[in-house]
Amino acid sequence: MSEVLNNLKTRRSIRKYTDEPVTDEQISQIIEAGLYAASGMGRQSPIILAVTDRAVRDELAEMNAAVMHREGTDPFYGAPYVLVVLADKNVPTGIYDGSLALGNMMLAAHELGLGTCWIHRAKEVFNSKRGKEILKQAGVEGDYEGVGNLILGHPDTSVQPSAAPRKENRVFYIK
Ligand SMILES: Cc1cc2nc3c(=O)[nH]c(=O)nc-3n(C[C@H](O)[C@H](O)[C@H](O)COP(=O)(O)O)c2cc1C
Repeated sequence: MSEVLNNLKTRRSIRKYTDEPVTDEQISQIIEAGLYAASGMGRQSPIILAVTDRAVRDELAEMNAAVMHREGTDPFYGAPYVLVVLADKNVPTGIYDGSLALGNMMLAAHELGLGTCWIHRAKEVFNSKRGKEILKQAGVEGDYEGVGNLILGHPDTSVQPSAAPRKENRVFYIK
């Protein structure tokens, strides 16, 4: 099997992390994979907010938990970093473009031996007043909608998630 196909099949969502730092070089490689994703009309519309600052990471986790009314929990599962993908609200394919960027980044991280998990509710978090302030603080201008939070770190290998069996009857052919 090709390395790409093997990576597609062996990537899992990681929900337990160690504190070991991820290097800037690795983070850049993962981001680059996101930037190289296909996009509608080649517009390259998604942007990525790379959060390596612990205090902001914790604040985003807190805001995310509040959206679910689960205050006091960590929806980022202890992952030290989060790469937020946001879509330009004025681009019709923005959410699709952002989703593909997230997929590329998940695979790139897996190839580097790192763990990720797509965490939802970026839309609500970055639609909030504080979310918009954080974007502004990072230098983001324009109207952006959160697509997904990609939490990132070194997987704690004491947990080995396995893939659920693939559901049947999801493929149809016209030959
Ligand atoms: C759009 C989307 C939203 C998701 N949101 C969450 C989430 O909020 N919390 C979480 O723990 N996992 C989340 N996941 C991860 C899925 O639960 C996971 O991909 C699924 O269970 C399949 O497992 P796998 O990624 O290991 O194949 C999300 C995945 C996607 C694609």
